[in-house]
Amino acid sequence: MSFSAIILAAGKGTRMRSDKPKVLHKIGNSPMLHHVMDVAKKAGAKRTVIVAGYRSNLVTGAAKTFSSEAEIVVQQEQLGTGHAVKQAKDLLNNSDGDLLVLYGDTPFIQPETISKMIKTRRECDISVLGFNTEEPSMYGRLIANGSNISQIVEAKDASEEQLKITLCNSGVILGKATLIFDLISKIKNDNASNEFYLTDCIELASKSGFKCSVVLCDQQETIGVNSLKELAQAEDLFQKSKRVEFMDNGVRLHAADTVFFSFDTIIGPGTEIEQNVVLAPGVTIEENATIRAFSHLEGCHISSGSRVGPYARIRPDTVLSEGSVVGNFVEVKKSVIGPESKVNHLSYIGDAKIGEKVNIGAGTITCNYDGVNKHKTDIKDEAFIGSNTMLVAPVTVGEKSVTASGSVVTKDVPDEALAFGRSRQENKIGMGKKLMNFLRKQKK
Ligand code: UD1
Ligand code: CA
Repeated sequence: MSFSAIILAAGKGTRMRSDKPKVLHKIGNSPMLHHVMDVAKKAGAKRTVIVAGYRSNLVTGAAKTFSSEAEIVVQQEQLGTGHAVKQAKDLLNNSDGDLLVLYGDTPFIQPETISKMIKTRRECDISVLGFNTEEPSMYGRLIANGSNISQIVEAKDASEEQLKITLCNSGVILGKATLIFDLISKIKNDNASNEFYLTDCIELASKSGFKCSVVLCDQQETIGVNSLKELAQAEDLFQKSKRVEFMDNGVRLHAADTVFFSFDTIIGPGTEIEQNVVLAPGVTIEENATIRAFSHLEGCHISSGSRVGPYARIRPDTVLSEGSVVGNFVEVKKSVIGPESKVNHLSYIGDAKIGEKVNIGAGTITCNYDGVNKHKTDIKDEAFIGSNTMLVAPVTVGEKSVTASGSVVTKDVPDEALAFGRSRQENKIGMGKKLMNFLRKQKK
Protein backbone atom coordinates (compact mmCIF):
# COMPACT_ATOMS: atom_id res chain seq x y z
CA MET A 1 0.00 0.00 0.00
CA SER A 2 1.50 3.34 -0.98
CA PHE A 3 1.20 6.27 1.40
CA SER A 4 1.60 10.02 1.56
CA ALA A 5 2.97 11.81 4.60
CA ILE A 6 1.52 14.93 6.20
CA ILE A 7 3.86 16.83 8.49
CA LEU A 8 2.18 19.20 10.91
CA ALA A 9 4.29 22.30 11.24
CA ALA A 10 1.95 25.25 11.61
CA GLY A 11 2.51 26.08 15.25
CA LYS A 12 4.60 29.04 16.38
CA GLY A 13 6.02 27.19 19.33
CA THR A 14 5.39 29.98 21.83
CA ARG A 15 7.41 28.28 24.53
CA MET A 16 10.52 28.36 22.34
CA ARG A 17 10.57 32.16 22.98
CA SER A 18 11.85 32.73 19.48
CA ASP A 19 10.69 34.43 16.26
CA LYS A 20 11.74 31.40 14.31
CA PRO A 21 9.05 28.79 13.56
CA LYS A 22 9.62 25.92 15.96
CA VAL A 23 10.31 23.30 13.27
CA LEU A 24 13.23 25.37 11.91
CA HIS A 25 15.20 25.06 15.12
CA LYS A 26 18.12 22.74 14.50
CA ILE A 27 19.26 19.43 15.88
CA GLY A 28 22.62 18.19 14.66
CA ASN A 29 22.79 21.39 12.58
CA SER A 30 19.71 20.48 10.58
CA PRO A 31 16.18 21.88 11.06
CA MET A 32 13.80 19.54 12.91
CA LEU A 33 11.59 19.72 9.82
CA HIS A 34 14.36 18.09 7.75
CA HIS A 35 14.74 15.29 10.28
CA VAL A 36 11.03 14.54 9.95
CA MET A 37 11.04 14.86 6.15
CA ASP A 38 13.94 12.44 6.11
CA VAL A 39 11.94 9.89 8.13
CA ALA A 40 9.02 10.21 5.68
CA LYS A 41 11.39 9.72 2.77
CA LYS A 42 13.20 6.74 4.29
CA ALA A 43 9.91 5.11 5.27
CA GLY A 44 8.87 5.35 1.62
CA ALA A 45 6.30 8.16 1.47
CA LYS A 46 5.16 8.78 -2.11
CA ARG A 47 4.32 12.41 -1.44
CA THR A 48 5.04 14.70 1.48
CA VAL A 49 2.74 17.56 2.37
CA ILE A 50 3.79 20.08 4.99
CA VAL A 51 1.15 22.02 6.88
CA ALA A 52 2.72 25.41 7.51
CA GLY A 53 1.18 28.34 9.38
CA TYR A 54 3.29 30.66 11.48
CA ARG A 55 5.80 32.36 9.10
CA SER A 56 4.82 29.87 6.40
CA ASN A 57 7.20 31.41 3.86
CA LEU A 58 10.18 30.41 6.01
CA VAL A 59 8.82 26.89 6.54
CA THR A 60 8.13 26.57 2.80
CA GLY A 61 11.68 27.67 1.98
CA ALA A 62 13.15 25.10 4.35
CA ALA A 63 10.90 22.32 3.03
CA LYS A 64 11.90 23.08 -0.57
CA THR A 65 15.56 23.08 0.38
CA PHE A 66 15.15 19.51 1.57
CA SER A 67 13.15 18.47 -1.48
CA SER A 68 11.87 20.49 -4.41
CA GLU A 69 8.98 18.01 -4.56
CA ALA A 70 7.72 18.87 -1.09
CA GLU A 71 4.14 20.18 -1.15
CA ILE A 72 2.96 22.90 1.20
CA VAL A 73 -0.46 23.88 2.45
CA VAL A 74 -1.04 26.81 4.74
CA GLN A 75 -3.23 26.59 7.83
CA GLN A 76 -4.17 30.22 8.44
CA GLU A 77 -5.37 29.71 12.00
CA GLN A 78 -4.13 26.96 14.29
CA LEU A 79 -7.42 25.39 15.29
CA GLY A 80 -6.04 21.98 16.26
CA THR A 81 -4.27 18.94 14.86
CA GLY A 82 -7.45 17.65 13.17
CA HIS A 83 -8.01 21.01 11.50
CA ALA A 84 -4.34 21.01 10.41
CA VAL A 85 -4.63 17.63 8.67
CA LYS A 86 -7.85 18.77 6.99
CA GLN A 87 -5.86 21.45 5.12
CA ALA A 88 -4.27 18.74 2.99
CA LYS A 89 -7.63 17.25 1.99
CA ASP A 90 -7.79 18.84 -1.47
CA LEU A 91 -4.31 17.59 -2.26
CA LEU A 92 -4.64 14.03 -0.98
CA ASN A 93 -8.27 13.00 -0.65
CA ASN A 94 -8.52 11.44 -4.09
CA SER A 95 -5.53 9.17 -3.61
CA ASP A 96 -6.55 5.64 -2.74
CA GLY A 97 -3.44 5.12 -0.65
CA ASP A 98 -2.74 5.67 3.01
CA LEU A 99 -2.01 8.79 4.97
CA LEU A 100 0.77 9.02 7.55
CA VAL A 101 0.57 11.93 9.98
CA LEU A 102 3.84 13.10 11.50
CA TYR A 103 4.63 16.14 13.67
CA GLY A 104 7.33 18.59 12.66
CA ASP A 105 8.44 18.94 16.27
CA THR A 106 8.93 15.21 16.89
CA PRO A 107 12.19 14.52 15.07
CA PHE A 108 13.31 11.10 16.30
CA ILE A 109 10.68 8.71 14.95
CA GLN A 110 12.59 5.90 13.21
CA PRO A 111 11.75 4.70 9.67
CA GLU A 112 11.71 1.13 11.06
CA THR A 113 8.91 2.17 13.42
CA ILE A 114 6.87 3.46 10.48
CA SER A 115 7.51 0.11 8.77
CA LYS A 116 5.98 -1.64 11.82
CA MET A 117 2.93 0.60 11.52
CA ILE A 118 2.63 -0.23 7.82
CA LYS A 119 2.70 -3.93 8.68
CA THR A 120 0.08 -3.58 11.42
CA ARG A 121 -2.09 -1.56 9.07
CA ARG A 122 -2.62 -4.73 6.98
CA GLU A 123 -4.76 -6.04 9.85
CA CYS A 124 -6.49 -2.86 10.95
CA ASP A 125 -7.93 0.39 9.57
CA ILE A 126 -5.90 2.91 11.51
CA SER A 127 -2.62 2.22 13.26
CA VAL A 128 -1.62 4.57 16.08
CA LEU A 129 1.90 4.89 17.41
CA GLY A 130 1.95 4.76 21.21
CA PHE A 131 4.41 4.35 24.03
CA ASN A 132 4.44 3.48 27.70
CA THR A 133 5.82 5.98 30.17
CA GLU A 134 6.08 6.47 33.91
CA GLU A 135 5.37 10.17 33.43
CA PRO A 136 2.45 10.53 31.04
CA SER A 137 1.84 14.18 32.10
CA MET A 138 0.29 16.08 29.14
CA TYR A 139 0.24 13.29 26.57
CA GLY A 140 -3.03 11.99 25.19
CA ARG A 141 -4.00 8.66 26.79
CA LEU A 142 -4.83 5.59 24.71
CA ILE A 143 -7.94 3.77 25.88
CA ALA A 144 -6.98 0.25 24.88
CA ASN A 145 -8.16 -3.28 25.10
CA GLY A 146 -5.15 -5.37 24.20
CA SER A 147 -3.81 -3.79 21.04
CA ASN A 148 -7.24 -2.41 20.11
CA ILE A 149 -7.91 1.23 20.90
CA SER A 150 -11.35 2.72 21.17
CA GLN A 151 -10.49 6.30 22.05
CA ILE A 152 -7.70 8.81 22.67
CA VAL A 153 -8.34 11.20 25.53
CA GLU A 154 -6.36 14.41 25.78
CA ALA A 155 -4.86 15.02 29.23
CA LYS A 156 -6.85 18.24 29.58
CA ASP A 157 -10.11 16.39 29.03
CA ALA A 158 -9.27 13.24 30.95
CA SER A 159 -10.89 11.98 34.16
CA GLU A 160 -8.83 11.17 37.28
CA GLU A 161 -9.02 7.50 36.35
CA GLN A 162 -7.96 8.08 32.74
CA LEU A 163 -5.00 10.22 33.84
CA LYS A 164 -3.57 7.13 35.55
CA ILE A 165 -3.18 5.42 32.16
CA THR A 166 0.47 5.18 31.18
CA LEU A 167 -0.08 4.16 27.53
CA CYS A 168 0.26 7.42 25.60
CA ASN A 169 -0.28 8.81 22.13
CA SER A 170 2.82 9.79 20.12
CA GLY A 171 0.66 11.65 17.60
CA VAL A 172 1.70 9.50 14.63
CA ILE A 173 -1.14 7.70 12.85
CA LEU A 174 -1.49 5.75 9.62
CA GLY A 175 -4.74 4.95 7.86
CA LYS A 176 -6.56 5.10 4.56
CA ALA A 177 -6.56 8.73 3.34
CA THR A 178 -10.25 8.82 2.40
CA LEU A 179 -11.25 7.34 5.78
CA ILE A 180 -9.17 9.81 7.78
CA PHE A 181 -10.47 12.83 5.85
CA ASP A 182 -14.03 11.55 6.24
CA LEU A 183 -13.58 11.18 10.01
CA ILE A 184 -11.97 14.62 10.31
CA SER A 185 -14.96 16.22 8.65
CA LYS A 186 -17.03 14.91 11.59
CA ILE A 187 -14.92 15.98 14.56
CA LYS A 188 -16.04 18.88 16.78
CA ASN A 189 -14.17 21.29 19.00
CA ASP A 190 -16.28 20.94 22.15
CA ASN A 191 -13.34 20.16 24.44
CA ALA A 192 -11.10 21.84 27.00
CA SER A 193 -8.98 23.55 24.33
CA ASN A 194 -11.74 24.35 21.85
CA GLU A 195 -9.60 22.66 19.22
CA PHE A 196 -10.36 20.15 16.50
CA TYR A 197 -8.40 17.16 17.80
CA LEU A 198 -7.06 14.68 15.25
CA THR A 199 -7.19 12.19 18.10
CA ASP A 200 -11.00 12.29 18.09
CA CYS A 201 -10.91 10.34 14.82
CA ILE A 202 -10.18 7.20 16.79
CA GLU A 203 -13.39 7.20 18.82
CA LEU A 204 -15.42 8.01 15.69
CA ALA A 205 -13.73 5.23 13.73
CA SER A 206 -14.09 2.66 16.44
CA LYS A 207 -17.80 3.50 16.96
CA SER A 208 -18.36 2.98 13.22
CA GLY A 209 -16.77 -0.45 13.42
CA PHE A 210 -13.32 0.37 12.10
CA LYS A 211 -10.42 -1.30 13.83
CA CYS A 212 -7.74 0.91 15.39
CA SER A 213 -4.56 -0.75 16.67
CA VAL A 214 -1.61 0.53 18.65
CA VAL A 215 1.99 -0.01 17.62
CA LEU A 216 4.47 0.52 20.44
CA CYS A 217 7.79 2.32 20.25
CA ASP A 218 10.41 3.52 22.67
CA GLN A 219 9.48 6.78 24.38
CA GLN A 220 12.73 8.36 23.20
CA GLU A 221 11.50 8.22 19.61
CA THR A 222 8.45 10.29 20.43
CA ILE A 223 10.24 13.10 22.22
CA GLY A 224 8.72 16.38 21.19
CA VAL A 225 10.42 19.75 21.38
CA ASN A 226 8.45 22.60 22.90
CA SER A 227 11.09 24.75 24.60
CA LEU A 228 14.77 25.59 24.28
CA LYS A 229 15.38 23.33 27.25
CA GLU A 230 13.78 20.42 25.42
CA LEU A 231 15.71 21.37 22.28
CA ALA A 232 18.95 21.05 24.24
CA GLN A 233 17.82 17.67 25.58
CA ALA A 234 16.95 16.53 22.05
CA GLU A 235 20.36 17.69 20.79
CA ASP A 236 21.98 15.72 23.59
CA LEU A 237 20.10 12.58 22.59
CA PHE A 238 21.03 13.08 18.96
CA GLN A 239 24.72 13.43 19.81
CA LYS A 240 24.67 10.39 22.09
CA SER A 241 23.15 8.20 19.40
CA LYS A 242 25.63 9.46 16.77
CA ARG A 243 28.55 8.66 19.08
CA VAL A 244 27.33 5.11 19.57
CA GLU A 245 26.70 4.71 15.83
CA PHE A 246 30.25 5.81 14.95
CA MET A 247 31.92 3.75 17.66
CA ASP A 248 29.95 0.70 16.53
CA ASN A 249 31.36 1.35 13.06
CA GLY A 250 34.96 1.37 14.25
CA VAL A 251 35.61 5.07 14.87
CA ARG A 252 37.74 5.62 17.96
CA LEU A 253 36.51 8.51 20.09
CA HIS A 254 38.99 9.37 22.84
CA ALA A 255 36.40 11.23 24.93
CA ALA A 256 33.10 10.48 23.23
CA ASP A 257 31.07 13.01 25.21
CA THR A 258 33.18 15.88 23.88
CA VAL A 259 32.89 15.17 20.16
CA PHE A 260 29.97 16.77 18.31
CA PHE A 261 28.51 15.60 15.01
CA SER A 262 26.12 16.91 12.38
CA PHE A 263 23.22 15.11 10.72
CA ASP A 264 25.35 14.37 7.64
CA THR A 265 28.75 13.54 9.15
CA ILE A 266 30.46 10.54 7.53
CA ILE A 267 33.50 8.87 9.12
CA GLY A 268 35.34 5.76 8.03
CA PRO A 269 36.51 2.97 10.34
CA GLY A 270 39.94 3.20 11.90
CA THR A 271 39.73 6.96 12.21
CA GLU A 272 40.59 8.43 15.61
CA ILE A 273 39.05 11.56 17.01
CA GLU A 274 40.57 13.14 20.09
CA GLN A 275 38.89 15.34 22.71
CA ASN A 276 36.73 18.40 22.02
CA VAL A 277 36.21 18.19 18.28
CA VAL A 278 33.30 19.81 16.45
CA LEU A 279 32.17 18.43 13.10
CA ALA A 280 29.88 21.03 11.50
CA PRO A 281 27.78 20.13 8.43
CA GLY A 282 29.28 18.60 5.30
CA VAL A 283 32.23 16.71 6.77
CA THR A 284 33.39 13.39 5.36
CA ILE A 285 36.40 11.68 6.85
CA GLU A 286 37.83 8.56 5.26
CA GLU A 287 39.30 5.63 7.16
CA ASN A 288 42.43 5.81 9.31
CA ALA A 289 42.57 9.59 9.62
CA THR A 290 43.38 11.38 12.87
CA ILE A 291 41.54 14.45 14.11
CA ARG A 292 43.42 15.79 17.08
CA ALA A 293 41.99 17.70 20.01
CA PHE A 294 40.15 21.05 19.77
CA SER A 295 39.66 21.07 16.02
CA HIS A 296 36.66 22.52 14.17
CA LEU A 297 35.80 21.10 10.75
CA GLU A 298 33.10 22.14 8.30
CA GLY A 299 32.26 21.28 4.68
CA CYS A 300 35.46 19.37 4.04
CA HIS A 301 36.80 16.01 2.93
CA ILE A 302 39.60 14.44 4.93
CA SER A 303 41.30 11.61 3.10
CA SER A 304 42.67 8.41 4.44
CA GLY A 305 45.76 8.67 6.62
CA SER A 306 45.73 12.43 6.91
CA ARG A 307 46.04 14.31 10.19
CA VAL A 308 44.32 17.43 11.45
CA GLY A 309 45.07 19.54 14.52
CA PRO A 310 45.31 19.91 17.41
CA TYR A 311 43.59 23.31 17.28
CA ALA A 312 42.94 23.33 13.53
CA ARG A 313 40.10 25.02 11.73
CA ILE A 314 39.06 23.47 8.42
CA ARG A 315 36.49 25.53 6.55
CA PRO A 316 34.14 24.69 3.66
CA ASP A 317 35.30 23.41 0.28
CA THR A 318 38.55 22.06 1.59
CA VAL A 319 40.03 18.71 0.61
CA LEU A 320 42.91 17.10 2.46
CA SER A 321 44.49 14.45 0.24
CA GLU A 322 45.93 11.18 1.48
CA GLY A 323 48.67 11.47 4.05
CA SER A 324 48.53 15.25 4.31
CA VAL A 325 48.94 17.13 7.57
CA VAL A 326 47.28 20.31 8.81
CA GLY A 327 48.69 21.12 12.20
CA ASN A 328 48.10 23.42 15.13
CA PHE A 329 46.58 26.87 14.76
CA VAL A 330 46.16 26.46 11.04
CA GLU A 331 43.07 27.69 9.18
CA VAL A 332 42.30 26.28 5.74
CA LYS A 333 39.47 27.50 3.51
CA LYS A 334 38.41 26.42 0.00
CA SER A 335 41.71 24.75 -0.70
CA VAL A 336 43.14 21.44 -1.78
CA ILE A 337 46.11 20.14 0.18
CA GLY A 338 47.88 17.57 -2.01
CA PRO A 339 49.06 14.12 -0.98
CA GLU A 340 51.70 14.10 1.77
CA SER A 341 51.86 17.87 1.91
CA LYS A 342 52.25 19.54 5.28
CA VAL A 343 50.97 22.78 6.76
CA ASN A 344 52.15 22.25 10.27
CA HIS A 345 51.94 25.49 12.21
CA LEU A 346 50.13 28.84 12.47
CA SER A 347 49.12 29.41 8.85
CA TYR A 348 46.18 30.65 6.82
CA ILE A 349 45.60 28.84 3.54
CA GLY A 350 42.64 30.15 1.52
CA ASP A 351 41.64 29.68 -2.14
CA ALA A 352 44.78 27.67 -2.71
CA LYS A 353 45.77 24.58 -4.59
CA ILE A 354 48.71 22.82 -3.06
CA GLY A 355 50.38 19.95 -4.93
CA GLU A 356 52.15 16.86 -3.64
CA LYS A 357 54.82 16.79 -0.95
CA VAL A 358 54.76 20.54 -0.43
CA ASN A 359 56.03 21.94 2.85
CA ILE A 360 54.41 25.13 4.09
CA GLY A 361 56.51 26.82 6.77
CA ALA A 362 55.14 28.23 10.01
CA GLY A 363 53.24 31.48 9.77
CA THR A 364 52.67 31.35 6.02
CA ILE A 365 49.66 33.27 4.78
CA THR A 366 47.92 33.23 1.45
CA CYS A 367 46.85 36.86 1.01
CA ASN A 368 43.78 35.91 -0.99
CA TYR A 369 41.58 38.96 -0.47
CA ASP A 370 42.27 42.43 -1.80
CA GLY A 371 39.27 43.96 -0.08
CA VAL A 372 37.00 43.38 -3.09
CA ASN A 373 37.88 40.10 -4.78
CA LYS A 374 39.31 36.75 -3.78
CA HIS A 375 42.35 35.44 -5.67
CA LYS A 376 43.97 32.04 -6.05
CA THR A 377 47.32 30.69 -4.96
CA ASP A 378 48.77 27.74 -6.84
CA ILE A 379 51.66 25.89 -5.24
CA LYS A 380 53.17 23.12 -7.34
CA ASP A 381 54.57 19.75 -6.24
CA GLU A 382 57.48 19.62 -3.82
CA ALA A 383 57.72 23.38 -3.35
CA PHE A 384 59.19 24.53 -0.03
CA ILE A 385 57.57 27.63 1.40
CA GLY A 386 59.80 29.27 4.00
CA SER A 387 58.35 30.35 7.33
CA ASN A 388 56.33 33.54 7.39
CA THR A 389 55.95 33.82 3.63
CA MET A 390 53.16 36.12 2.44
CA LEU A 391 51.80 34.74 -0.82
CA VAL A 392 50.02 37.66 -2.44
CA ALA A 393 47.42 36.09 -4.73
CA PRO A 394 46.95 35.59 -7.59
CA VAL A 395 50.29 33.89 -7.60
CA THR A 396 51.86 30.60 -8.70
CA VAL A 397 54.81 28.99 -6.96
CA GLY A 398 56.59 26.51 -9.24
CA GLU A 399 57.55 22.89 -8.72
CA LYS A 400 60.50 22.25 -6.40
CA SER A 401 60.92 25.99 -5.87
CA VAL A 402 61.78 27.60 -2.54
CA THR A 403 60.66 30.85 -0.96
CA ALA A 404 62.95 32.47 1.58
CA SER A 405 61.54 32.96 5.08
CA GLY A 406 59.75 36.23 5.57
CA SER A 407 59.28 36.80 1.86
CA VAL A 408 56.39 38.74 0.44
CA VAL A 409 55.82 36.90 -2.83
CA THR A 410 53.99 39.06 -5.34
CA LYS A 411 55.32 37.56 -8.56
CA ASP A 412 55.07 34.00 -9.86
CA VAL A 413 58.02 31.81 -8.87
CA PRO A 414 59.44 29.63 -11.69
CA ASP A 415 60.04 25.89 -11.15
CA GLU A 416 63.12 25.15 -9.06
CA ALA A 417 63.78 28.85 -8.34
CA LEU A 418 64.59 30.45 -4.99
CA ALA A 419 62.42 33.49 -4.35
CA PHE A 420 63.71 36.26 -2.08
CA GLY A 421 61.14 38.88 -1.31
CA ARG A 422 62.56 40.68 1.71
CA SER A 423 65.00 43.45 2.48
CA ARG A 424 68.59 42.50 3.16
CA GLN A 425 69.91 42.40 6.70
CA GLU A 426 72.68 44.79 7.82
CA ASN A 427 74.71 44.23 11.02
CA LYS A 428 76.04 47.42 12.75
CA ILE A 429 78.91 46.28 14.97
CA GLY A 430 78.59 47.39 18.63
CA MET A 431 75.39 49.37 18.01
CA GLY A 432 73.17 46.99 19.96
CA LYS A 433 74.94 47.58 23.25
CA LYS A 434 75.14 51.35 22.65
CA LEU A 435 71.45 51.58 21.93
CA MET A 436 70.52 49.71 25.11
CA ASN A 437 72.74 51.87 27.28
CA PHE A 438 71.22 55.00 25.76
CA LEU A 439 67.66 53.77 26.39
CA ARG A 440 68.39 52.79 30.00
CA LYS A 441 69.84 56.20 30.76
CA GLN A 442 66.84 57.93 29.28
CA LYS A 443 64.51 55.92 31.52
CA LYS A 444 66.11 57.29 34.76
C1 UD1 B 1 -0.74 16.07 20.52
C2 UD1 B 1 -1.83 15.02 20.65
C3 UD1 B 1 -1.61 14.19 21.91
C4 UD1 B 1 -0.22 13.57 21.87
C5 UD1 B 1 0.84 14.63 21.66
C6 UD1 B 1 2.17 13.98 21.43
C7 UD1 B 1 -3.85 16.01 19.64
C8 UD1 B 1 -5.12 16.67 19.89
N1 UD1 B 1 -3.10 15.69 20.71
O1 UD1 B 1 -0.90 16.95 21.61
O2 UD1 B 1 -2.57 13.18 22.02
O3 UD1 B 1 0.02 12.86 23.08
O4 UD1 B 1 0.53 15.44 20.51
O5 UD1 B 1 3.16 14.96 21.36
O6 UD1 B 1 -3.51 15.76 18.49
N2 UD1 B 1 -0.24 21.81 14.88
C9 UD1 B 1 -0.60 22.44 13.71
N3 UD1 B 1 -1.79 23.10 13.66
C10 UD1 B 1 -2.64 23.15 14.69
C11 UD1 B 1 -2.27 22.52 15.89
C12 UD1 B 1 -1.07 21.84 15.96
O7 UD1 B 1 0.13 22.39 12.73
O8 UD1 B 1 -3.70 23.76 14.54
C13 UD1 B 1 1.04 21.12 14.95
C14 UD1 B 1 1.97 21.74 15.98
O9 UD1 B 1 2.76 22.74 15.39
C15 UD1 B 1 2.79 20.53 16.44
C16 UD1 B 1 1.83 19.36 16.27
O10 UD1 B 1 0.83 19.80 15.39
O11 UD1 B 1 3.90 20.32 15.61
C17 UD1 B 1 1.23 18.90 17.59
O12 UD1 B 1 0.44 19.93 18.14
P1 UD1 B 1 0.43 20.26 19.67
O13 UD1 B 1 -0.49 21.39 19.90
O14 UD1 B 1 1.80 20.38 20.20
O15 UD1 B 1 -0.27 18.94 20.25
P2 UD1 B 1 -0.17 18.40 21.72
O16 UD1 B 1 -1.00 19.23 22.61
O17 UD1 B 1 1.24 18.21 22.09
CA1 CA C 1 3.31 19.12 21.46
